[in-house]
Amino acid sequence: MNTDQAPDANIQVTKDGPYVVSGGLPLSEQHIVTNAEGESLDYREGKKFPAQPQYALCRCGHSGHKPFCDGTHSKVKFDGTETASREPYLKQAETTDGPAESLTDAESLCAFARFCDPKGRIWNLMGQTDDPEIRKIVEFEAGHCPSGRLVVWDKKTGKPIEPKFQPSLGLIEDTEKKVRGPIWVRGGIPVIAADGTPYEVRNRVTLCRCGRSNNKPFCDGSHAA
Ligand code: SF4
Ligand code: FES
Repeated sequence: MNTDQAPDANIQVTKDGPYVVSGGLPLSEQHIVTNAEGESLDYREGKKFPAQPQYALCRCGHSGHKPFCDGTHSKVKFDGTETASREPYLKQAETTDGPAESLTDAESLCAFARFCDPKGRIWNLMGQTDDPEIRKIVEFEAGHCPSGRLVVWDKKTGKPIEPKFQPSLGLIEDTEKKVRGPIWVRGGIPVIAADGTPYEVRNRVTLCRCGRSNNKPFCDGSHAA
């Protein structure tokens, strides 16, 4: 978990309305960079939005002022009911074991950013994690999984191998699929359900911003379906 966040930084899910983001969290576009075969390789930072102490991000997908909420959610009678599990990640995840590292995987959180596919698919590579080159690949791929569906663990230390993030929000832009992806929440920012229940604080999660996820408030890849 990351401990650098502003003490008051959080994201409040509102009932059938936007995400209210507090604590002056930076917001920028994060474009998925792909190769000629359409494989996801990395992120490129796009537009950076001016800093604001608090702002409301659209989660219904209908705002005329995206990424911010303009109140349209009331007109379209957005149903933002949160259906995601409140169980901690590790209770939801399945494990693929390898010689030096293991992989945990909570499939319901997949945001369909496809970093796990290149070089033979991460699940198939886990059996070769006694090879340092393969370890580099699986650590890179799991670390680029924006939703935190995938986490690689060092079997010697028993600790997750996590990228270090400045607490910040990214708007994922999936140019390959020509769609807007989810809101990428990085660096251990608390997300609080509309009923006041906090979700597990994680280093990376993705929040739905098209309004169509069946696992609200988290992204389930529906934007790319
Ligand atoms: S969100 Fe993670 S698990 Fe889903 S496709 Fe992307 S990299 Fe793979
Ligand atoms: S959540 Fe308010 S306009 Fe989309």
